[in-house]
Parts: sequence; C-alpha cells; structure tokens
Amino acid sequence: MSDRVYIFDTTLRDGEQSPGCSMNFTEKIRMARQLERLQIDVIEAGFPIASEGDFESVKEIAKQIRSCTIAGLCRANKGDIDRAWEALKHAAKPRIHTFIATSDIHLKYKLKKSRDEVLESAVNAVRLAKSYCDDVEFSCEDASRSDVDYLCQIVEAVIAEGATVVNIPDTVGYAIPDDYGRIIRSLIERVPNINKAIISAHCHDDLGMAVANSLAAVMNGARQIECTVNGVGERAGNASLEEIAMAIRTRSEALKVHTNINTEEIYKSSKMLVSLTGMHIQRNKAIVGENAFAHEAGIHQDGMLKNSITYEIMTPQSVGIKHSTLVLGKHSGRHALKQRYSELGYNLTTEELEKAYSVFTKIADEKKQIFDDDLVAILQDEMASIDETYKLETFQVTSGLNLIPTATVGLKKGNEIFQDSATGDGPVDAAYRAIERITGISVELLDYSIKSVAWGRDAIGEVFVKIAIDGYVFNGRSASTDVITGSVKAYLNAINHAVSARYRKEQDSPVRQESQAV
Ligand code: KIV
Ligand code: ZN
Repeated sequence: MSDRVYIFDTTLRDGEQSPGCSMNFTEKIRMARQLERLQIDVIEAGFPIASEGDFESVKEIAKQIRSCTIAGLCRANKGDIDRAWEALKHAAKPRIHTFIATSDIHLKYKLKKSRDEVLESAVNAVRLAKSYCDDVEFSCEDASRSDVDYLCQIVEAVIAEGATVVNIPDTVGYAIPDDYGRIIRSLIERVPNINKAIISAHCHDDLGMAVANSLAAVMNGARQIECTVNGVGERAGNASLEEIAMAIRTRSEALKVHTNINTEEIYKSSKMLVSLTGMHIQRNKAIVGENAFAHEAGIHQDGMLKNSITYEIMTPQSVGIKHSTLVLGKHSGRHALKQRYSELGYNLTTEELEKAYSVFTKIADEKKQIFDDDLVAILQDEMASIDETYKLETFQVTSGLNLIPTATVGLKKGNEIFQDSATGDGPVDAAYRAIERITGISVELLDYSIKSVAWGRDAIGEVFVKIAIDGYVFNGRSASTDVITGSVKAYLNAINHAVSARYRKEQDSPVRQESQAV
C-alpha cells in the first residue's frame, strides 16, 4: 500500500485573506461544509487574532465540522496562541498552527531578531500550544530562503517540544522543484527526530511552480500538502488543491502516494468558491476550467469518439463533471428537477426544491433550454439568500444613443414601498444611484463583473459586485437572463448583506464582523 499524503486546505485562511476573495461568516461555513464533503484532512479555518469575524468563523467551523481536523493560524506569541485556542477548543480534532519567519531576510528587516531569539520564540510557542492541544503544527515562514543548517536546527527543536507537523513554506514562491525537493530531503537526512513529525509543503505560485514544488516535496518525503481550491491565495495564489489531488490520483504509479480526497466533489467545490467570492478562473485552468475536458480539434474529436483514452488522461466524471448538455425545459416538473439536482450532487429538502422550482419556472419561460450550469446558478442564488431588508419590487430603465440613462426603482422595506429615480453613466449606474437615494446608504462600488453561465443568446448572466460601506467590504451576487435585472439584484444583495451585518453588530456582542475592513 502506498503512503497517504494529507491534504491541508487553507482556502479559508491564506485564500480568504487575498484581495477579491473575502467571504462573510455564512459563506465561510458553507465553504467549510463543502470541504468536509471533499474529505479534506485539515481545514485551516482562519487566523483568529486577525479580526472578530475570523475568530467567530473559526469557532463556528470548529463546532460544526466534526470529521476534519480544524486548524487556526497564530504567530509565535502568547496572545495569538491563546486566542486561537479559544476558537479551536470546540473542535473534535483541533490543531494549533503557529509560525515565525526563519530566513535572514525576515529576521533582519521584519522581526529585527537574532537567530537565537527566533529559535527561542519558536520553542516557547510550541510549548504553549502543546499545553492546550496535542496536535501542533509549526511553520518556518520563508523557509525556502532560509539557511538550511538553521532550518534543521529549528525543526529539530520544535519537534523535541512536541510539534506534530513541521511546515516548510515557500512563502514568496521563489523555489524551483529541484531546490525545494532538496530542502525536504536535507531535513529527512539531517534532523535526528524527524520521524516524530510529518513534513508539510506550503507553496505559493509566484513563478507558476506551486504544484510542481509541492509534488517535488512529496517525492522527497513530505506527507502533507497545503493548498487551496482554485489555487486562490496571497499574490499569485497557493498550490491548487484540484491539481494536486488529480496529479496524485492520475500519476499514483510515479508518485507512489495517495490521498483521501473525494475527487468527485472537486468541480462543485470550485464552482462554489467562484460563486461565493466572484473570483473567476480562466477557461483553460487545469481540472476545473471550462475547457479542461473540451476537445475542439477534429483529430482529437475523432480519437475521442474511437476511445476516450486517446486524448483524455482522466474522466470529467472523476472530478464531478456530469456529462449532459441539454437537460430541462418549461414542461419539466418538480420531480425531474429534483432528480437532476440529485444527479448533480445536490439533495434538496422540500423547501429548497420549492424555492428552486419557482425560480426555475420563471427562467424556463424566458429560456428554452436549461443547462446544468443554469441549475447550479439558480441554487447558489437561493442558498445565498439572506434576510432581505430591501426587496426589488419594480424597476424601469431607459438608455440608448444620445439619451441620458435614467432608472426608476421601487424597493419594498417591511410593508412599505419606496420609489425614486436617478440618471447615471449607463442604465446600471442609474439604477444603482436610484437605490442609493432610496436606502440613504452611501456605497462605493469596488468591483462589478458579469459572466454568462451556460450557452446561447438567452444564457443566464451571473453578476458579482463588491461594494464598500463605511470601510467594510460586502459581496453581492445574482443570476438572471436579464443582465440589468441581475446587476440590480446583485447590488441589492450586497446592500442587504451590509444591512444585516450592521443589524447583527448592534444586536450582539461579540460582533460577527461580516467582512474585512478596507
Ligand atoms: O506562506 C506562508 O509562509 C504562510 C505561513 C503563515 C504558513 O502562509
Ligand atoms: Zn502562505
């Protein structure tokens, strides 16, 4: 039997802290549940000292997700470690993940500490973490640019203190596979107590080598890989989970290891992250991009028809892409809808089915053919629905050549309907200004994107917006066959997020900060 490589997912920490990828409390819980279905070994749920919001979501994930180890990040100091433990202590399998930089560059310019001082902080941090929790991971930040002798010394010391996992990050994505593999090999050969801990790889993608470096680490003895869904993360991102999992599955004979990942949940996880954050992936992204299993060239299509192994090294089904193009239309009933959702991996409750069916029938009136991606978009919309303080009742826009774009919007709040009009640079801008006049909330639009979900002129458009209100960032999303309706609903969705966050802040303490300060 080959060795198991443990998969440590940091989508909710390293991923979530990157620009454009923030998620609110509810979204983080949904993503964590999906990571559990993916059978991730360790979920890094956040950095509890970083904000009240991070603390609350780590705590809630620790309470709800019982089959995965839940890790929380903390610097190598008492305040951070105590706070991390406060959030993690509810977990069935908690892990404290503490770190300090070990490269001379970081010691000199960032920490202004000597090597001995850093060694002492590392040992003290692991000792304190160990007093709370059996499972302690220690990371040597910027390890790939650290002196290998010093790295060996610090790794030996933290293992002696009880660290169960030692992580060797390529923090700045500087390594190339040969070098990185050699660092891992040196630790195995030179650290006397290395067999008491698992070596972990954590690679960033600045030179596009995060996955290659992680696999080089595995080939040299690492048995944990840290990665993120869609490769999101600081700067160019982290190693992509789906690429790691499928490389190990597809090339297990060469790598001689396996993982416990349920690869059939990969596609759904990727889609969910895109839909929660609005961070799209490129069409030709390995494993989960739209083109990843599309064969265009005539010779390839001919080969595929004769036998798919001619041009396909893994099947779309193995990552959870179900092969079906046209599915349902306006004559399809609830039963067919339920059945199709179940084939797509969503087992809906009666209430969820009712909601999805009511949206489905409206869309089926506007659009002849409903594709799988449309169905997923409908569902994401329904599941993301939050307390709607403002409901869109009516709107009308006029725009055209040599006309001033104008919008009139009617919003329902409680039992009252408020209506106002505004002009703008375009119909969407005019509608957004009318909404601002009604709500009295001053909004800064940070990002707006629109993407067609499936094919055809009547395709559903999925709209993502990112807004800032009082220095806090909120995401909004909507899907509609009418792009202006979708744009208005996505904007309202973000405003409703902001309103319910403010309401909760006033209501309870500690505050659940919905999102990051700008
Ligand atoms: O990239 C890095 O070094 C990190 C550590 C905190 C693990 O994310
Ligand atoms: Zn990192």
